[in-house]
Amino acid sequence: MSPPLAFTLNGAPATIDAEETLLDALRERLGATEVKAGCAIGRCGACTVLLDGAAVNACLLSGWQVAGRAITTIAGLAALPVGETLAAAMEEENAFQCGYCAPGMMMSLAGLLAARPLPDDARIAEALEGNLCRCTGYHSILRGARTARD
Ligand code: FES
Repeated sequence: MSPPLAFTLNGAPATIDAEETLLDALRERLGATEVKAGCAIGRCGACTVLLDGAAVNACLLSGWQVAGRAITTIAGLAALPVGETLAAAMEEENAFQCGYCAPGMMMSLAGLLAARPLPDDARIAEALEGNLCRCTGYHSILRGARTARD
């Protein structure tokens, strides 16, 4: 078995096995249960985290793809330049109901706003098209995203 590979998790050192999925490492070994597990096949977006600032599905990444990279979960959102604005906007708009999709939605939006601070509505919708929500109907989430942008 190859030695564990180093990466950073919310700015702190962490390790992962080359063939382990990032989602399993985060939830089962590293205590990052704020990252939610849903489909485990890249369809629901519940597991979305940032990989060097870009939104990715943790269930689709293997350890070798994470080596040397920076992973940010919702627990690290406040440290991002867009973090406070995004969190305040989602709270102001009561964006979420049950909240299970919230960590993934928030990280998709954090990745978008970091790359494009003024996305149009179509770009916001595109950034969230991989994130499923079973209870809000999406309107409140989209409102929150627009508030964060504006
Ligand atoms: Fe990763 Fe659904 S758990 S996309």
